[in-house]
Amino acid sequence: MNDRAVNVAGGAHGALVATGSSGGTVLTSAPRGASPVLKVTDLSVEIGSEPPRAVVSGVSYSLFSGRTLAIIGESGSGKTMSARGVMGLLPPGARVTGSIELDGEELAGRSARELRRYRGPGFAMVFQDPHRSLNPTMRVGDQVGESLKIHYSLTRRQVADRVAELLRMVRLPAPDQRAAQYPHQLSGGMRQRVMLAIALACRPKVLFADEATSALDVTTQAKIMELLADLQSELQMAVVMISHNLGLAANYADDVLVIYDGRTVGQGPVAEVFENVQMPYTQLLLDSVPSVDRVVPLQVRPTDPTVAAHETGGCAFAPRCPRVAERCTAERPLLAPTSGAHRWACWHPLGNAERRCDREDQ
Ligand SMILES: Nc1ncnc2c1ncn2[C@@H]1O[C@H](COP(=O)(O)OP(=O)(O)O)[C@@H](O)[C@H]1O
Ligand SMILES: [Mg+2]
Repeated sequence: MNDRAVNVAGGAHGALVATGSSGGTVLTSAPRGASPVLKVTDLSVEIGSEPPRAVVSGVSYSLFSGRTLAIIGESGSGKTMSARGVMGLLPPGARVTGSIELDGEELAGRSARELRRYRGPGFAMVFQDPHRSLNPTMRVGDQVGESLKIHYSLTRRQVADRVAELLRMVRLPAPDQRAAQYPHQLSGGMRQRVMLAIALACRPKVLFADEATSALDVTTQAKIMELLADLQSELQMAVVMISHNLGLAANYADDVLVIYDGRTVGQGPVAEVFENVQMPYTQLLLDSVPSVDRVVPLQVRPTDPTVAAHETGGCAFAPRCPRVAERCTAERPLLAPTSGAHRWACWHPLGNAERRCDREDQ
């Protein structure tokens, strides 16, 4: 599947309305007349106090029901924090700024208690490690029923029926029997199905899948992704798929947001971003995808921790970039508007001709 990352043109329909720090709104193939179910504008997250550290800076995107946005980037680039910032699930003392509109309702500035109301019916999240996310001392059926009890006044019978329905919906084998078991009695794939049932219990408008299949073997991963795609289309959910796996993003997402050092450095329809690569960082990510028939060496220098370009106001990727020039270390490139939906933040983008040469070289 990974090998298709570079070749596969991604999802069938673009879904992103990109709103950049440079202002302006670029429409891709957003559904005609539809309003975004989630509109994030200039989201920033700071952690710690001495000094505060920006882990997400000025991230913006809009997402429509039934569509998928992939947020991709290396480990530590801010993927998880950008999702947690939207959901209000940050470490103590973290600060969020920007606007978060869920179905037109502004959530920024709401208290943690208020935000809790939106988790379940508004947002839900599936994490990478179901083993750690599930309570080892609680039967899986009870865990699936928990959020139903919080958000709805249902009788015990109604909760049990809904739990059975959810476990069938995520195609857990022998759901009645499994509901009475504990997480350790289930396989990794089954546990992830249970996590999905928990996430979907209140029919969320937006599902964040944070490396949701990364801990699974390739076959199980494919089955869970297919299940997720089926459920998404059945429930018309919007999905934010967080992944370092570009193959998954290419296969399942409509749009992609490439993040580096907490900033959006590339954004647009999957096919555009992966086929018409402009950002050297995106190229690095693509070149790092393991392929069955070739191993592509990294084309960039390793990070030099003594060069903190973002401190000098330059491009954060400059210390690792093979195309670095003077301007890159002095001035931060913004996500520049283009004539199309694909945008990138780079003073020396690869461009079409360059990209073709790269391919001939291989
Ligand atoms: N609980 C935390 N406390 C302080 N810093 C954190 C915490 N979690 C993550 N970070 C930092 O925030 C940055 C972004 O992390 P994260 O969003 O988890 O990255 P990703 O999901 O892309 O791997 C990283 O530099 C990471 O070290
Ligand atoms: Mg993460």
